[in-house]
Amino acid sequence: MNNNFFIWQQSFSVNNKIIDDQHKQLIIMLNDLYNMFIEKDDRKKVGLIILKLVDYTKIHFKTEERFFNQTNYKFTNEHIKEHSSFIEEVNIFKDKFREEKAELTYELMTFLKEWLYNHIMISDQKYVECFRQHKLSR
Ligand code: FEO
Repeated sequence: MNNNFFIWQQSFSVNNKIIDDQHKQLIIMLNDLYNMFIEKDDRKKVGLIILKLVDYTKIHFKTEERFFNQTNYKFTNEHIKEHSSFIEEVNIFKDKFREEKAELTYELMTFLKEWLYNHIMISDQKYVECFRQHKLSR
């Protein structure tokens, strides 16, 4: 079974192919995690995809932050704060899950989806114009 829990939409685009591709990859990983959740997949396999998702999210945030640095983006600090507190939160979950003190739940899946959706649609959209001015749009 392959359910699409979260679907990429053109309105998510930030007009930068590197970032758009990374967002698409994050959505694919989130859908994989959701499918494992509904299929009640093996805990070890679920743990690995959580680890991959956290690692890829960190890579993605670093990519955006490099562009912020390159463009002297004016909302860098608040944006980085959002990235850091999200990573902090998912790291706590990842560790608890590994120690068998937390379970993957529908609430958690919804939190991840909503966080990503809101972050892309509100915070990430704010740098679109800055990137365009610095010729980072393509
Ligand atoms: Fe696309 Fe700020 O994360």
